[in-house]
Amino acid sequence: RTGQLCSRSRLAPKCVRDLWVNLLLVPATKTSPPMSGAGSQRFRSTSSAQGFSELARERSKTVTSFYNQSAIDVSAEKASVRLTLATLLYSGKSPDGHHILSSAKYLHKELPVRIAHRIKGFRSLPFIIGCNPTILQVHELYIRAYHMLSDFPQITDQEAEARFCKLVQQLLDDHKDVVTNLAQGFKECRRHIQDETIIRNFLDTTLCSRLGIRMLATHHLALHEDNPDFVGIICRRLSPKKIIEKWVDFARRLCEHQYGNSPRVRINGHVVARFPFIPLPLDYILPELLKNAMRATMESHLDTPYNVPDVVVTIANNDIDFVIRISDRGGGIPHNIIEKVMDYHFSTAEESAQDPRMNNIFNTITNSGNQSNPMHGFGFGLPTSRAYAEYLGGSLSVQSMQGIGTDVYLRLRHIDGKGESFRV
Ligand SMILES: Nc1ncnc2c1ncn2[C@@H]1O[C@H](COP(=O)(O)OP(=O)(O)OP(=O)(O)O)[C@@H](O)[C@H]1O
Ligand SMILES: [Mg+2]
Repeated sequence: RTGQLCSRSRLAPKCVRDLWVNLLLVPATKTSPPMSGAGSQRFRSTSSAQGFSELARERSKTVTSFYNQSAIDVSAEKASVRLTLATLLYSGKSPDGHHILSSAKYLHKELPVRIAHRIKGFRSLPFIIGCNPTILQVHELYIRAYHMLSDFPQITDQEAEARFCKLVQQLLDDHKDVVTNLAQGFKECRRHIQDETIIRNFLDTTLCSRLGIRMLATHHLALHEDNPDFVGIICRRLSPKKIIEKWVDFARRLCEHQYGNSPRVRINGHVVARFPFIPLPLDYILPELLKNAMRATMESHLDTPYNVPDVVVTIANNDIDFVIRISDRGGGIPHNIIEKVMDYHFSTAEESAQDPRMNNIFNTITNSGNQSNPMHGFGFGLPTSRAYAEYLGGSLSVQSMQGIGTDVYLRLRHIDGKGESFRV
């Protein structure tokens, strides 16, 4: 089925990417210097005048295929239908499985529209960014997903629904590295961009839309599972303390691997609170915030790595929202960078790699001088977490007590609270 869908899709991804890269890299004259790699193969094999005109035709077809896709244009004009989590929660069970068929029909209609909006976003990027091979690769993934979904026939019975689930699962897998690829791609070409807001707006919208799509898709797949505590991906009685503990264990293991030790984490406040919520966004945000707190703690105590202050996590629950505060004693965020820490790609990873004491630790523990590691990477942790929190009707704010430490407040709205629920 997949092969069939691929062969029917309007683009052959690898070949299109090669062509596009050629379009950008190979000057269209006979006297151009030889290229290396795949580009040069193509270049040399078309050295005749006829070859060039064929290549030129092929190139222009390629460009056209990226920008002239009338079906995508039509879908991109439609409004997306965002649901409240309360709707997902209460429509999530029926004895005859009717809810699963309705959910599949909704997704089948909705996903191509959302994906078409994203493709429109890629098309609107400045040319120099849109041409970056890594970004182009993601753009292509979206085009391919659009066609695979919109070519899928009407879902009228369980058998079609089962095939649709396979397709959805496959697309989730295919798109799992999109955030890393976008981070990499924008890093490669951000020096060409004067206006930071172009990158911020694109990434905020694309990453949040991706989160929404993944929540809906995973929710649908999870409707098939029989777990009394869950309706799809919504946990009926989520314990913030439990999910924090899960990510504390994860972050401490990474931290120990990186620095030889990790701060202990104390959790206080409303530790017995339980309420319906969706763990998925917390599964992204919590490890990012905990890694930052632990890294700051360890790096501000490089001379006493076996005697470091605890990180304290406080939970506050109320009728409207819940707040998770992560406090560290890692020295705070210096005045001169506090305005930048929410920018995509802002990271002090390079500076820490240059600290001779860090190099010692790097060399003995990880045997690598690499500047990017699991504790810090692209400078995406804070901006992405804030975008996700805002998408879910909440907020993420950072308070630095320079010289002492940092408090990060993650505030998220209840899905069945007194205030208006957010929409996915
Ligand atoms: N709790 C904290 N204490 C001190 N500095 C922090 C803290 N959290 C973040 N920062 C600073 O903000 C920068 C940006 O944080 P962010 O999480 O966005 O990126 P990163 O940790 O460098 O990389 P990534 O999260 O993508 O792996 C960090 O490099 C660090 O300098
Ligand atoms: Mg981080």
